[in-house]
Parts: sequence; C-alpha cells; structure tokens
Amino acid sequence: MARIVKLDATGPIKVEPSANPIFVCACGLSKKFPFCDGSHKPTREEEANCVYRYDAATGAVIEKSQA
Ligand code: FES
Repeated sequence: MARIVKLDATGPIKVEPSANPIFVCACGLSKKFPFCDGSHKPTREEEANCVYRYDAATGAVIEKSQA
C-alpha cells in the first residue's frame, strides 16, 4: 500500500527529553524518519499555495502545482 501525505512543515520538531535534544522530522522527507536528517532544507524555498512532489531517492522537486 502506498499513500501521499500532504505536509507543510519546513523544519523539524525539537524534543528535549534530556540534555541532548532530538529533532523529529515534520516535513516527511527524511531518509532517517522519524528523525530529521536535514532533508527539509529545500522546503524553505517552497512558495505558498503550491503543492510539491519530491523524488524519494534524490530529494529533488519533481512536480510543482497550484494547491
Ligand atoms: S524536518 Fe524533515 S528532514 Fe528535517
């Protein structure tokens, strides 16, 4: 089964259970999900009211359309 998930976060959620914080991926692009690996950086260039599709292997934008 496959699914498309629509997310609009452009960075991780910081969790501080101890002295060392954990960054949980909120953009859905991390290759180390559920942990942030920095793959969210291209989302900072996203335009409002657009939907983006990213290539799972390369992280490149493969489609952009109006929401
Ligand atoms: S928030 Fe998803 S990779 Fe960082």
